[in-house]
Amino acid sequence: MNIIELETVGSTNDHARQIARAGAAAGTVVWAHEQTSGRGRQGHHWVSLSGNLFMSLILRPKTAPADIGQLSFLSAVALANALEEILPATVRIHLKWPNDLLLNGKKAAGILIETEGDFAIVGIGVNITGAPKGATFLKALGAEKVEAGRLLEGVAGEVDRLAGLWEKEGFQDIREAWLARAYKLGEEITARLPQQTLTGIFKGLDKSGALQLQMPDGTLKIVSSGEIFI
Ligand code: BTN
Repeated sequence: MNIIELETVGSTNDHARQIARAGAAAGTVVWAHEQTSGRGRQGHHWVSLSGNLFMSLILRPKTAPADIGQLSFLSAVALANALEEILPATVRIHLKWPNDLLLNGKKAAGILIETEGDFAIVGIGVNITGAPKGATFLKALGAEKVEAGRLLEGVAGEVDRLAGLWEKEGFQDIREAWLARAYKLGEEITARLPQQTLTGIFKGLDKSGALQLQMPDGTLKIVSSGEIFI
């Protein structure tokens, strides 16, 4: 694993994209201690408090372009596995579709995946020492001794391991591992889509990773992009 450690950067995803364009190898990780314009999904700003983890991993997946969306779920499972190693066993880890990570019901980390040409950037932010209002962070949940650098190695190692599995065996095991931690599976959820808002029972994920929502009239709706409310 090649780690590029920076004191300050605008966004680790932007830095990783630049070096990937210039040929940086798969497995290269950009780590910054400070981010001045961290980005979240759907154009949101990512509050980047100093002491938290900001990392972006370059991958060059050999999978079919149509399957690239599955990388969201793979990354979320990898992050959950790495965090399970360092959190007290009493902390509940849930994955909220498509790739938020909740600890005891509150957001503690976010994943922003961006693809270009033959590479993908997996950007991960983990709240370690602080979090904006409404969110949570690792130290508040009893992970006293966690260090950003060690966590980065754990997460990047797990993404790399699962990416190997994904390229060899496909999405099935990753989908099952994600569902085993899914937030509100079998319960009513509200999904906010670009054009409409749908409320129904969260039945599962289809083979591509799209959300299956059972509507009040019994029909199954497939939601491939959007956001669900906590
Ligand atoms: C989200 O939940 O909206 C995704 C947040 C992703 C934040 C991380 S921090 C490291 C990387 N660099 C960025 O600018 N964003 C991601």
